[in-house]
Amino acid sequence: MSEITLRCISCNTEYGPEEIIYSCKKCGGLLEVRMNPPEAGFDDFSRRAFGVWRYREFIPIEEGAEIVSLDEGGTPLYRCERLAKWVGVRSLFIKYEGRNPTGSFKDRGMTVGVTKAKSLGSKAVACASTGNTSASLAAYAARSALTCYVILPSGKVAMGKLAQALMHGAKVISVKGNFDQALKLVMDISRNMGIYLLNSINPWRLEGQKTLAFELVDQLGYVPEFVAVPMGNCGNISAIWKGFVELEDAGLTRGKPRMFGVQAAGAAPVVEMLRKNLDRLSPMKSPETVATAIRIGNPVNWPKAVNAIRSSNGLYDAISDEEIVETQKMIACLEGIGVEPASAASVAGVRKAVSSGSIPKDAEVVCVCTGHLLKDPEEVISVCGKPIEIPPDLQAVSEIIRPEQTPLL
Ligand SMILES: Cc1ncc(COP(=O)(O)O)c(C=O)c1O
Ligand SMILES: [Zn+2]
Repeated sequence: MSEITLRCISCNTEYGPEEIIYSCKKCGGLLEVRMNPPEAGFDDFSRRAFGVWRYREFIPIEEGAEIVSLDEGGTPLYRCERLAKWVGVRSLFIKYEGRNPTGSFKDRGMTVGVTKAKSLGSKAVACASTGNTSASLAAYAARSALTCYVILPSGKVAMGKLAQALMHGAKVISVKGNFDQALKLVMDISRNMGIYLLNSINPWRLEGQKTLAFELVDQLGYVPEFVAVPMGNCGNISAIWKGFVELEDAGLTRGKPRMFGVQAAGAAPVVEMLRKNLDRLSPMKSPETVATAIRIGNPVNWPKAVNAIRSSNGLYDAISDEEIVETQKMIACLEGIGVEPASAASVAGVRKAVSSGSIPKDAEVVCVCTGHLLKDPEEVISVCGKPIEIPPDLQAVSEIIRPEQTPLL
């Protein structure tokens, strides 16, 4: 494997891969992992199982490292014809990240991040989380016998995610504050107490998440025109973009997609910044949205996400909670794909962009649906209502059943 370095995206200072740092020591900028383009290509990949480690040569973990895996990645790419009609676009695919081991895309990052933690000799790992990061880190920490601490914003984490973190044995700490405050706290803890930090500010994690781009090219056989991604802390869109850039730099693809970053209207600091064409982010003090996974007012990875959107001639938009919930229901009812609210933001964003004309009607779009429906059962009950209750007799049931009822679309 070629030489691996950590490089500051602001001042280009380089650090060795063994350094435990999460930002540039000189300027505080974000770090990214750099290596020369590997020699391998899709023929080599095709001999391996479909998943994150199929792209081994592009994952900058030294040979011989003990890989911590739960068979993550390798998620389905569903062609969605009925949903495409509702959205108003010729062709729409969902990359369904809910099919990962703990039910979200975070597993792609954790297999690499926790492998790195082990190879650095860490004994304990930690994260702040809107829920999915904690569920994933707890599982991968359990798999590799690491102690795990997770810090969650009190009362704002979906039940399914909390249940996962608890059952996998993490020490779960609930902070009376929001995600941004929880992240600041965990960054202080990791600096002062030598606990390895696995939020998406950790650049090794993004190396796993970039494989989503590789899988899309594997599945489609070409580079898609648009890739829509919900944005919270903005690690995922940055990682997917990095994947496409590396594929092209290695000569394995030609061209890159236009990246479409979607935020919830109540938590949309990046969209605000792009709308006003500013060069710095103004954090939102009290973010609020039904999509708790992306309820983030001060996303740490904003410089990488803004770069992904600007360099790809991309798109951005903010979506209301009503649109998120309506879209979540349509994805579930028209396609049988169960996603959590944050995931529906990508499809909702595309629908709005098609109706305003910023995505042409004859386009082909991939929407990344980041997490599973069962992550947030309380939201489902609150937006769908309770089951119809009846006495156990035929008369009562026959008043409800209408065999001639037609499907939604
Ligand atoms: C389901 C889901 N979608 C989207 C996101 C946003 O990802 P990122 O923080 O990398 O922007 C998250 C992050 O927690 C998530 O859990
Ligand atoms: Zn720097």
